[in-house]
Amino acid sequence: MEIVKTVEAMQRTSEALRLAGKTIAFVPTMGFLHEGHLELMRVGKAHADTLVVSIFVNPTQFGPSEDYDRYPRDTEGDLAKARAVGADIVFFPAREEMYPDGFQTRVQVERVTRNLCGTARPGHFDGVAVVVAKLFNIVKPHLAVFGQKDYQQLTVISRMTADLNMDIQIVGVPTVREPDGLAMSSRNKYLNPEERQSALCLRKSMDLAETMFREGERDALAVRQAIEALINDHPHTRIDYVSLCDSTTLEDVARLGDETLLALAVKVGATRLIDNRLIRD
Ligand code: PAJ
Repeated sequence: MEIVKTVEAMQRTSEALRLAGKTIAFVPTMGFLHEGHLELMRVGKAHADTLVVSIFVNPTQFGPSEDYDRYPRDTEGDLAKARAVGADIVFFPAREEMYPDGFQTRVQVERVTRNLCGTARPGHFDGVAVVVAKLFNIVKPHLAVFGQKDYQQLTVISRMTADLNMDIQIVGVPTVREPDGLAMSSRNKYLNPEERQSALCLRKSMDLAETMFREGERDALAVRQAIEALINDHPHTRIDYVSLCDSTTLEDVARLGDETLLALAVKVGATRLIDNRLIRD
């Protein structure tokens, strides 16, 4: 496995692979890799000749009061895990390599960033869009793999790729979970044992919505209120949002249709967790 640290070397390597007729799959990450990230890598590996993984904690997608400085990092562990799943190249740039002095370009995807985490984390998706656009130009992949755990992010990247005519196939992978249903996340490591227990309220909320839907409930407010009550019954929790929304536009709906996205963001202790499920027959 090759470790590449500069933009120029990565671009040269990718260009040579393309000239040799090789296809490139790409998995962008912020590191502290877990089974969710590794699943994305396996999917990428199965779809292309070469698998490139990036590890870069992107400062532009963190708000001023968020956890950029204390975001968990484990470079040695990450490299060993990437190697074990068969990554061919890890792109691991320094902050100055990605954002040199003078950097001033924005990439803003409009409507699908207004609700959910776009409301809760102003500017977050501009940071995601700009770094992913840069990474696409650096790694030059044929396909890129993203997790459905970050459903809105996947929507934003799909929209950006289509709108800017980027010739890259975007592949979404279902959320990988712990045995008790908690979605895997690098941030789970912040949870103490009591908070870890309370964190199950996200999975229980999604089960509750599904049950209510199956029993005929179609009123979004009724489902939302039931979920809010369930979450508030768990200690150390604070709801950021509970949204029932259209799975394409991500706008809130008043009534559940054939397919509705339930998206949740809950602070458990100091840790913000997100999850989602498509509610449908
Ligand atoms: P990060 O949070 O490290 O996630 C990297 C990728 O792994 C994303 O596509 C995310 O959706 C996916 N992922 C995380 N947890 C998952 C799980 N439990 N199951 C399946 N996939 C999971 O998302 C980012 O980094 C950044 O925003 C990034 C796209 C790298 C841009 O900086």
